[in-house]
Amino acid sequence: MTQRLLRGRLLTFHREPLSGEDSGAYTYLEDGALLIQDGIIQDTGPFTEISAKAGDVPITDHRPHLMMAGFIDTHIHFPQVQVIASWGAQLLDWLNNYTFPEETRFASDAHSATMARAFFDQLVTHGTTTAVAYCSVHKTSADAFFTEATRRNMRMLGGKVLMDRNAPEGLQDTPQTGYDDTKALIADWHGKGRNGYVITPRFAITSTPEQMAMAQALAQEHPDCHIQTHLSENKDEIAFTKQLYPQARDYLDVYQSHGLLGQKTLLGHSIHLEPREIDALAETGAHPVFCPTSNLFLGSGLFDHGGLSARGISNGIATDVGAGTSYSMLQTLNEGYKILQLQGLALHPLQAFHWATRGNACVLGLEDKIGNLDPGTEADVVVLNARSTSAMALRMDRVGSLAEELFVLQMMGDDRAIEEVYVSGAPSKSVSGQNSETNF
Ligand code: GUN
Ligand code: ZN
Repeated sequence: MTQRLLRGRLLTFHREPLSGEDSGAYTYLEDGALLIQDGIIQDTGPFTEISAKAGDVPITDHRPHLMMAGFIDTHIHFPQVQVIASWGAQLLDWLNNYTFPEETRFASDAHSATMARAFFDQLVTHGTTTAVAYCSVHKTSADAFFTEATRRNMRMLGGKVLMDRNAPEGLQDTPQTGYDDTKALIADWHGKGRNGYVITPRFAITSTPEQMAMAQALAQEHPDCHIQTHLSENKDEIAFTKQLYPQARDYLDVYQSHGLLGQKTLLGHSIHLEPREIDALAETGAHPVFCPTSNLFLGSGLFDHGGLSARGISNGIATDVGAGTSYSMLQTLNEGYKILQLQGLALHPLQAFHWATRGNACVLGLEDKIGNLDPGTEADVVVLNARSTSAMALRMDRVGSLAEELFVLQMMGDDRAIEEVYVSGAPSKSVSGQNSETNF
């Protein structure tokens, strides 16, 4: 039995804050404690209370830093670690010129394994303890992804992309091989340890109707798997999709008519939506995923978080690396804030930090496991330092509230603000490079 007591300022959310004044939505303790046993949070509360009950447990004192649940990234591309920051193109050219050629390299086991280690290093360094990832079309890339997730004991979701047209030869499967590889990956990885498999038709343009039908079969055969794809990111993409699926009522109908919409469905981008599509999202409970740095980088458009939320649709928020320009969920919230500002919405920092933690956990239906610090949940914790750069420290000298501190972290923070990360209760950032177990 491994026990550890973390001491520090502690913030955890119980529900989405309705406003900045909604103090019932969260617990904040100036001197808090988390008692962790075998990767699970056993107890939480004021330090004096928890330490008195805990007895002789080793204590790590993180004061004056802020402990909260690890960040959750609901849309990211593992084979794009060497695509991030590729110049000058919008979606379809960016895919053809940069992304697809790079993804062909993941046919190699060795390359997939090396990049998986690098990818997980980036996640942990940036405070992300759970991500929902697209792997490449190659089965080997998904094997490498789940092998690395298992080695680190991280709660990760992902899947190999299904794509059988409009891509280079080395980056296509067939309806049958895509189905067979997905079945094998589900059998090998889904529900093993903390892994979850995500059925992943990349998007309408790269899947024939025959492949969409296979994705439908997979979804029916594995209703406990999530589904992820891309929707209405870019106007040229939408026009091409309508040519390829002339019977579809609109872009979303390509997925809806194949039975792919439900509460476990994640739809990256969902920017340029028609009224019928919004109705269908509300009816089916599928989740749009807002990718602010990506949407600005590719010039894709402005996600309508306010409009969709008003319809009762719950949106994820995510980096979308490699079109996204940072692994940091802090930087993602920063750019997200600005996109909402352009639409007359001021996202409160308490709502922003809820979104990147418990909010994204709810989108995934995993709020009983991750995204908060309740007893019984998995001990994925991030420790944040709002004075991690001299510019932040200067600003912090004039800060007088938790909300202001969170906003400084959101606008100015990045991996330097991540003081420590606990994955399943084990310190995973500071020890990197110090022992063989965690020397990634
Ligand atoms: N649409 C289909 N594939 C991709 C991808 O890899 N990135 C982005 N941003 N959009 C996509
Ligand atoms: Zn994407």
